[in-house]
Amino acid sequence: MKVINARLNHVNYDIFIHKGLLATLGEQLSTWYKGEFVAVITDSTVDQLYGSAIETSLKGVGYRINRITIPPGEQSKSLISLNYVYSKLAELAVDRSSLIIAFGGGVVGDLAGFAAATYMRGVPYVQVPTTLMSQLDSSIGGKTAINLKAGKNLAGGFYHPRAVYTDPLLLDSLPQKIYCDGLAEAIKYGAIKDSSLFDLMLRSENLASIDSNIEDILYSCCSIKTLFVQKDEFDRGERQLLNFGHTIGHGIERYFDYQKVTHGEAVGLGMLQITRCSEAMNLTSKGSYDAIEAVLKLCQLPTVIPSMDKTKLLEIISHDKKSKEGYLNLILLRNIGNAYIHQIAKTNLDSFII
Ligand SMILES: NC(=O)c1ccc[n+]([C@@H]2O[C@H](COP(=O)([O-])OP(=O)(O)OC[C@H]3O[C@@H](n4cnc5c(N)ncnc54)[C@H](O)[C@@H]3O)[C@@H](O)[C@H]2O)c1
Ligand SMILES: [Zn+2]
Repeated sequence: MKVINARLNHVNYDIFIHKGLLATLGEQLSTWYKGEFVAVITDSTVDQLYGSAIETSLKGVGYRINRITIPPGEQSKSLISLNYVYSKLAELAVDRSSLIIAFGGGVVGDLAGFAAATYMRGVPYVQVPTTLMSQLDSSIGGKTAINLKAGKNLAGGFYHPRAVYTDPLLLDSLPQKIYCDGLAEAIKYGAIKDSSLFDLMLRSENLASIDSNIEDILYSCCSIKTLFVQKDEFDRGERQLLNFGHTIGHGIERYFDYQKVTHGEAVGLGMLQITRCSEAMNLTSKGSYDAIEAVLKLCQLPTVIPSMDKTKLLEIISHDKKSKEGYLNLILLRNIGNAYIHQIAKTNLDSFII
């Protein structure tokens, strides 16, 4: 079992990574959760695949459990689903002595985390992430949210889980496209902080050889995310480095109304685009672009940006909620494994979109 300890100002929690962990989840929880009831929030896809497995594991140590199921997909990160979850929690008489489990991908994690943060002003919860994206990113860091009509993740809060239980075996049922989407974030972690993680992926023969190292890759990614969260819990400084590829990536996702390009694909394209320009400006060491392009190809992620209207894209990026009045913090690589914040005037953004 690999364990990472997240030490924050007011909370401390462990991230456990182990193949087959789901089967022993009940035992793991029983070492510290002494209540009787567990509410498992999940989506119907994950429920069909692993609902009975989690139930068996939890009942095996004597917990009473109930599964609250939402439809799969981003549309469930909504006020309607949140309202449904609140009603179920009330119906099940969940209170602050109960435990909530967020069992699913980032959608379930963000929604269940927000419900746990706000129901009765906070019920303890744990994350049991089931997609690569959620295992190496969204389950760590305490950001919880739902989407509003006005934009993604607009209503939310910081609320850390009591623990994160990551079972890489759950990834076996993930469609390849969703799996590869998560790999884009792994590439990002390597690019900003860990050249050996990056090289491990780059030197892999194919997707299967990357997958054979997934437990180590997860451990490296989760360690990096934890490190940044510890240094900058509320995302005001160094945690911004995690946004490498995201400024342009978010722009691409929004440009196509979140329909044509997935998050991971957009982040991959964003990393490439910004590095192509920063390399040409001698802000990044030569060869970084080629290395990112090669590893994206290996992970079966796109490397060519679909044709877009530049003015419209620039406008979308300038209105990003993370941009400050007149300025934008771009994340650039000095070289692979080493990132920095480069502040530019919004009026200079076009030199990074060529
Ligand atoms: N809180 C954060 O810090 C943070 C960070 C990154 C992303 N996010 C959020 O995460 C969300 C995206 O998460 P995601 O990519 O995990 O998507 P997701 O939760 O929508 O899951 C993708 C699909 O995979 C299915 N699925 C989940 N686990 C499966 C499994 N083991 N086998 C087969 N199918 C499975 C789901 O039912 C869903 O259809 C976005 O809403 C994003 O905003 C949050
Ligand atoms: Zn991301």
